[in-house]
Amino acid sequence: MKKIAVFTSGGDAPGMNACVRAVVRAALYNGLEVVGIRRGYKGMADADFIPMESHSVSDIIGLGGTILKSARFDEFRDIEWRKKAYENCVKEGIDGLVAIGGNGTFTGAKLLMENFGIPTIGCPGTIDNDLYGTDYTIGFDTAVNTALDAIDKIRDTAASHDRVFFVEVMGRDAGFIAMQSGIGGGAEDILVPEIPDTIDEVIDNLKKGGYKEKPSHIIVVAEGEEIGNANFIAQKAKEALPNLDIRVSNLGHIQRGGSPSAIDRILASRMGIAAVEGLIAGKSNVMAGIIDDKVAYTSFDDAINKKKPLDVELNKMVEILNS
Ligand code: F6P
Repeated sequence: MKKIAVFTSGGDAPGMNACVRAVVRAALYNGLEVVGIRRGYKGMADADFIPMESHSVSDIIGLGGTILKSARFDEFRDIEWRKKAYENCVKEGIDGLVAIGGNGTFTGAKLLMENFGIPTIGCPGTIDNDLYGTDYTIGFDTAVNTALDAIDKIRDTAASHDRVFFVEVMGRDAGFIAMQSGIGGGAEDILVPEIPDTIDEVIDNLKKGGYKEKPSHIIVVAEGEEIGNANFIAQKAKEALPNLDIRVSNLGHIQRGGSPSAIDRILASRMGIAAVEGLIAGKSNVMAGIIDDKVAYTSFDDAINKKKPLDVELNKMVEILNS
């Protein structure tokens, strides 16, 4: 292996830059040439390659977003686009790839590998933390802290007005951000897709949750909650409990931005180095994750298809902490 490429793809996550930096520096350390691909698979299909030197990644460890930019590129499902991307990689002399992203990114990498045999290792980068094969994904810790900061602020205004707030946090199909930011923010209830809930339970909980005695009441709702989104649930609660002063706050994309936390910078650096070392050792079609504080390589198949369980015992904590 002489030359590798690194790219970020799908939803950006704080810490992706720290990972790009680690990949570039680890490649150079091991005597490899390295290029960046801008805008993920779109850039690969457009031959948007940029040479990366050590100084190309100076001062980016603390930057949010991704200097390589990102894109969601559905066209990559089509083999013709993958062929074009592969041919561009061959022309550029690339013989290994490091893909930083989530589920969709690894699906693209797996197909590219299966079709054309280009060795690829993934680094799990998504705020959702929904990838099997790693305890945490790059960006999750920062996103949780951003959500927590917002919940603390909402608590101030909620308590001042004796209000009930439904706070929606990101997590397309997973409740990791909701669970952790909810526990950290002292939420009175947390609704996540991994745990079945009903509107009646939410309302009963509001009734028995002592909202009359408490100055504020915060219910954190994961974006992927099966009952519906925070607006829908709040509407149902208003209909059932018209005397309550209910508001909704959707935290949205602020959770994707900002300077990565120390945990994310270190996690991203470890994963980036592990990806390069894995490629050099002949690994491919795997994700470089961290399990029990040790590097662990998990097949793309498992990372994509196996469901990472949410510790539902955490929900018990919410009950205990609200008694
Ligand atoms: O996967 C990360 C994520 O932020 C999800 O939590 C969210 O559902 C999705 O991306 C939003 O994607 P986009 O920015 O493309 O709308």
